[in-house]
Amino acid sequence: MFIYNRHRRLRKNESIRSMIRENHLSPNDFILPIFVAEGEGLKEEIAAMPGIYRHSIDNTVKEVKEIWDLGIKSVNIYCKVSDNLKDNTGKEAWNPNGLMQNTIKAIKDAVPEMIVMPDVALDPYSIFGHDGIIENGQIANDPTVEALVKMTLSLAEAGADFVAPSDMMDGRIGAMRMALEENGFDNVGIMTYAAKYASSFYGPFRTALDSAPVDSVDIPKDKKTYQMDYHNSEEALREAMADVEEGADILMVKPGMAYLDIVKLLKDNLQVPISVYQVSGEYAMIKAAVERGWLDNDKVILESLTCFKRAGADLISTYFAKEAARLLNE
Ligand code: PBG
Repeated sequence: MFIYNRHRRLRKNESIRSMIRENHLSPNDFILPIFVAEGEGLKEEIAAMPGIYRHSIDNTVKEVKEIWDLGIKSVNIYCKVSDNLKDNTGKEAWNPNGLMQNTIKAIKDAVPEMIVMPDVALDPYSIFGHDGIIENGQIANDPTVEALVKMTLSLAEAGADFVAPSDMMDGRIGAMRMALEENGFDNVGIMTYAAKYASSFYGPFRTALDSAPVDSVDIPKDKKTYQMDYHNSEEALREAMADVEEGADILMVKPGMAYLDIVKLLKDNLQVPISVYQVSGEYAMIKAAVERGWLDNDKVILESLTCFKRAGADLISTYFAKEAARLLNE
């Protein structure tokens, strides 16, 4: 046969494949999400997330040193707050001596160059398990934004490099940017969860923080009035454009694997750094299949993460960060 294009020539062996490779994965791409809880010497495995733990601050610092040595430059922080500190206003979120604030200080003391990106949202602090303040049975946007601004300033004060608002209230990026500017924190960045969908893939995370919306007839039982509807994509672009105009530095898409089209949409339309969050349910699915011997752990991790890069992500928040960095360093 005469065939003009024999595509297999460029796949003949690993040498040529590696030469023409379009996308590469590196530990620089990763952000490791870390769960922190009160206590000392605490390391509690999270149900549905084998290999992922809730750490007390001392163990969090150990973990951060370890991942720094693997080449990982950034962490997201999430705190499990005890029930007696929760209320409807979420005020524990801006306690200068709160768990989050103390974690940030401890990490920055131990590894000053680690980029620390605490989550900004009220759900771990809310008795209702919602990301906002409840008024008349609804999540009230503007009072929540005011609370999130207080939280942002308190995290900046503690030494956060970036804040990572995951709440999906309207107008919060502009309000945070303004408050940061006015208070001398013009160097603190915002990695906004610009396109965060109301997703069932967050289940294991909510058990990790004990932060699921409570089941009550008086309040919404899900987050669909603020997180996005997964039937939509144009809406993601509107959300993202607004966040860029309001002063966001990095745009996050969440969840990850089922939302690669959204990553690509934002990257193609807005030339700003994009991060993607491979969330707890995605981690759980892969680990469950691996435990049953149905998938190859190392290969699936590297494939799933590389595909985020191919879709246009610059950064990847993933619970696999440590494992993947080890594999890449081998
Ligand atoms: C809370 C928050 C959630 C996640 C990150 N920040 C859960 C939610 O919105 O209910 C999910 C992350 C994961 O599933 O790994 N604002």
